[in-house]
Amino acid sequence: MTIAPTHFETVGAEAQTLLDYIRDEYPASWRIIEANIGRNPHLFADIANRAVGWASSHFGPSYVQILGDGYAHFLTDVNREQLSYDKRGSYRNRSYDDVYKDVYDNDQYMQYYNWGVFATTFLWEHHLRIYQFFIQAFVNHLQPDGNVIELGSGSGIWSSLAASKTSGTTFTGIDISKSAVAVATSLSQAAGVDSRCTFKFGNALEFVHEGERFNAGLSCFLMEHLEAPQMLIRKLAESVVPGGIIFLTAAITAAEVDHIYEFRSEGDVVAMLESNGLRVVKLLSATPQADVRRRFLPRSVAVLAQVKQTAEW
Ligand SMILES: C[S@@+](CC[C@H](N)C(=O)[O-])C[C@H]1O[C@@H](n2cnc3c(N)ncnc32)[C@H](O)[C@@H]1O
Repeated sequence: MTIAPTHFETVGAEAQTLLDYIRDEYPASWRIIEANIGRNPHLFADIANRAVGWASSHFGPSYVQILGDGYAHFLTDVNREQLSYDKRGSYRNRSYDDVYKDVYDNDQYMQYYNWGVFATTFLWEHHLRIYQFFIQAFVNHLQPDGNVIELGSGSGIWSSLAASKTSGTTFTGIDISKSAVAVATSLSQAAGVDSRCTFKFGNALEFVHEGERFNAGLSCFLMEHLEAPQMLIRKLAESVVPGGIIFLTAAITAAEVDHIYEFRSEGDVVAMLESNGLRVVKLLSATPQADVRRRFLPRSVAVLAQVKQTAEW
């Protein structure tokens, strides 16, 4: 099947080359992406033009295959896991050890996985909504000379995007994957924000910060990967000043091979945050196209919270 090329006015040359590749190689996934860009031309371009440019600086010309194939593999896995979750009624893996065997210790899998996650930030429309909320509710309220701690920073895309929208704020990212730390460092250099972004290897649950607390905190799509996400929330609450803002995202009834903790509703996430030192200020629940034939509606929730200033709020 050949699909005529679509040129999007807002999309830069590197992102357009990636889109052309996905359209030609993975036509089944193309219509949804095309509709997404058609509905959100400026929002899409705001992330994709920058993020794809950083990946291009990191990899050279092979960024096209790495991001395109990574996205296609990731999408196939997500769809397969969600179908079997609908039948089984619970996530496949329950412990970190199960995931380690299937995912983190599988180099071939990880090669596609990391870049698939990266590409969903702009290729999935509901993730564009989360990015918009991130900028409006969190980034625009950061102190110009403040500092932000990010736990589970992965490719560093959230810190690098935020750093490129601010001028004096500094960011420290922690990730348990050494390769993720290397990638995040390289992408922040490509973004020209490496003087304000530092990425370090470490377990977020054992994070200990010497000195004064951070002004703000950030953790995207890590909670559902943990056996006890409340430990992550407590780490953020104790690392950030009382009243400091925290941006968190979590997946709800969205199966992926490395999702362990099953949030069943937005209320589950809110209750966990509220009982572990945070006050929920704003929440966005973003979903892909709903399909009423399916048992579960996979979705992502983003929360703006504040570290409680008293025992109650
Ligand atoms: C789904 S990725 C999300 C990455 C990034 N936050 C994003 O939204 O693109 C989850 C990340 O959490 C990291 N991670 C998993 N367990 C962790 C832990 N205990 N401490 C720090 N990072 C962890 C993984 O290495 C991975 O980079």
